[in-house]
Amino acid sequence: MLHETLYRGYERLLTGEVKKHGLPRHIAVIMDGNRRYADRVRIMRYYGHIYGARTTEQFLEWCWELGIKQATIYAFSTENFSRPETERAMIFELITKKLDELADDPRTHERRMKVLVIGEVHRLPSDLQDAIRRVEDATRSYDGNHLNIAIAYGGQREILDAVQDMAREVREGKLHADEIDETIVSRHLYTNGVAVPDVDLIIRTGGDIRTSNFLPWQANGSECAAYFCAPFWPEFRKIDFLRAIRVYQMRECEQKQSALIRTVNMLAACGSAEIDGVVGLFRGAKSRN
Ligand code: IPE
Ligand code: IPE
Ligand code: MG
Repeated sequence: MLHETLYRGYERLLTGEVKKHGLPRHIAVIMDGNRRYADRVRIMRYYGHIYGARTTEQFLEWCWELGIKQATIYAFSTENFSRPETERAMIFELITKKLDELADDPRTHERRMKVLVIGEVHRLPSDLQDAIRRVEDATRSYDGNHLNIAIAYGGQREILDAVQDMAREVREGKLHADEIDETIVSRHLYTNGVAVPDVDLIIRTGGDIRTSNFLPWQANGSECAAYFCAPFWPEFRKIDFLRAIRVYQMRECEQKQSALIRTVNMLAACGSAEIDGVVGLFRGAKSRN
């Protein structure tokens, strides 16, 4: 009981702190550790995935509550196709059910939440493909919150598919090779012309320090902040989420400071009379952190 009270107090304190600084606009999460969690608490692995899905729902609530409008979650990778047939079937069934719930949930419509699935959808069972179509169709016109769900997703494959698409368009005379820039590539990724904005923060649970072929263009390309943490996905709590945001905020501050330090050094090297003003600015930024 005391523990719970302390936890709530700490959660409120952290929430207050993170609200004082700029928030990430787009968070992506590698939800890892469902089976290890199940093994540790001695329940069937099936329940590990069920509890994981519950955490996903809470996680999205935390994002929307704080005003973070874009979230991308990694539900199933192309590598995960090599898992046993029974586990694959169970995961696909769970995702199908959750997508149907999302399409029917009044909160989806109140929030005008746009749901997009990214990945090699054609490799998925037809029931799941139907559920994807239903939820995407039901939310197509929305532009409130954005939820991107990576299913049968592999980052290198996404880039390869985009390159092949662009090559085809160049061949057909619809695109000029020298027009291809970051925006054009973004539009050819798995989002049907909707460029998913760069990821500001990537979170991975479960203790592994790797990004497993997740969003190499949108996250690694933009050098987003990364937060790796030990809890398995089913036990990821709001305070872990808030700590991840603090890591993002600290990184932003560091980047601003180093930009200022570079400016100060440059002006010093030029012997500029403005140096005092810039040093003052730098001190001001530092004392705010
Ligand atoms: C993440 O948990 C969910 C999926 C990859 C579908 P895992 O199933 O990878 O669980 P661990 O990492 O083996 O514990
Ligand atoms: C990462 O988990 C992919 C998802 C969360 C869907 P994995 O358990 O598949 O990743 P690796 O193979 O350990 O990197
Ligand atoms: Mg795993």
